[in-house]
Amino acid sequence: MTIGQDFENRVTRLLGIKYPIIQGGMIWAAGWRLAAAVSNAGGLGIIGAGSMYPDVLRAHVKKCKAATSLPFAVNLPLLYPSIEEHVQTIIDEKVPIVFTSAGNPRTWTAKLKEHGIVVVHVVSSAKFAAKSQAAGVDAVVAEGFEAGGHNGREETTTMCLIPAVRREVDIPLIAAGGIATGRAMLAAMVLGAEGVQMGSRFVCTPEASSHPGFKQSVADAAEGDTMLTLKRLTPVRLLKNEFYHRVELAERSGTDDAGLATLLGRGRAKLGMFEGDLTEGELEIGQVSSLIDSVIPAAEVVAGVWNEFIAANNEPLLYVK
Ligand SMILES: Cc1cc2nc3c(=O)[nH]c(=O)nc-3n(C[C@H](O)[C@H](O)[C@H](O)COP(=O)(O)O)c2cc1C
Repeated sequence: MTIGQDFENRVTRLLGIKYPIIQGGMIWAAGWRLAAAVSNAGGLGIIGAGSMYPDVLRAHVKKCKAATSLPFAVNLPLLYPSIEEHVQTIIDEKVPIVFTSAGNPRTWTAKLKEHGIVVVHVVSSAKFAAKSQAAGVDAVVAEGFEAGGHNGREETTTMCLIPAVRREVDIPLIAAGGIATGRAMLAAMVLGAEGVQMGSRFVCTPEASSHPGFKQSVADAAEGDTMLTLKRLTPVRLLKNEFYHRVELAERSGTDDAGLATLLGRGRAKLGMFEGDLTEGELEIGQVSSLIDSVIPAAEVVAGVWNEFIAANNEPLLYVK
């Protein structure tokens, strides 16, 4: 596997990585195995703490440190109930980088930075990018409407979001949502990003901790098979299955928020993505699943995306006629 051309920019320097390719933190998918594999391949691997109890996160961080000597990060959804314990683990274990999401970056950024931790915050609008910069984060991930998992209500696509955020902030900008190839990475960089974060593509790797049945259903997904749903409760992009169709029916027939919350219940994401109940579980994945057709090692994802990015960047101006 060759991986071409040296590269350096603000994102590679900030995160101490070779290629500005980041594996998004993902509940029920991104444990230490995936994070270490991505970091060892020259990208940035992230452990998704959002589905972990405090003792589980600590164990994953320890295993990740044993499996790579390169930088890796922890994703901390800020609404997580045991956040204080997670922050303590990150400080105790000297995790170098934290990607925060789903909450106010002002709450934890100063404390993390006091301990020398690099803080990157995930946003879905230019307004929140500006707030994140004001809160002192080192970089932002701007995540468009195409993305898998929880998402902004505004439905701003990556194509519109990246230039808007670029105009709003000076700090390094990482694009996410709908990116699974080197050409898409190049497009994001042309729009003003300095790196990319991919989630859905990394679900389809042997190192992801998700259930093999979920990975296969992602590889099999076709155009139009995902939809942003539960917009009134907490918007999330799901693969269409029986559970999704029940939610859709409930929303169309005017079920109130309490009714939707009851229908959702607890533990559906684990049931679908980790335990492999493809009928009743919540299957979080992005639109780009329609372009993903195989489960391949994380190192091949990184090398493939990077090599395609370099090749596309070196093409003559094919697109300008
Ligand atoms: C299964 C799954 C779980 C996710 N869980 C989280 C999470 O816990 N925290 C978070 O900040 N983002 C989460 N995301 C979003 C990813 O980190 C990433 O930003 C997103 O997948 C990028 O869009 P893409 O799916 O089009 O590549 C999740 C995405 C997926 C597909």
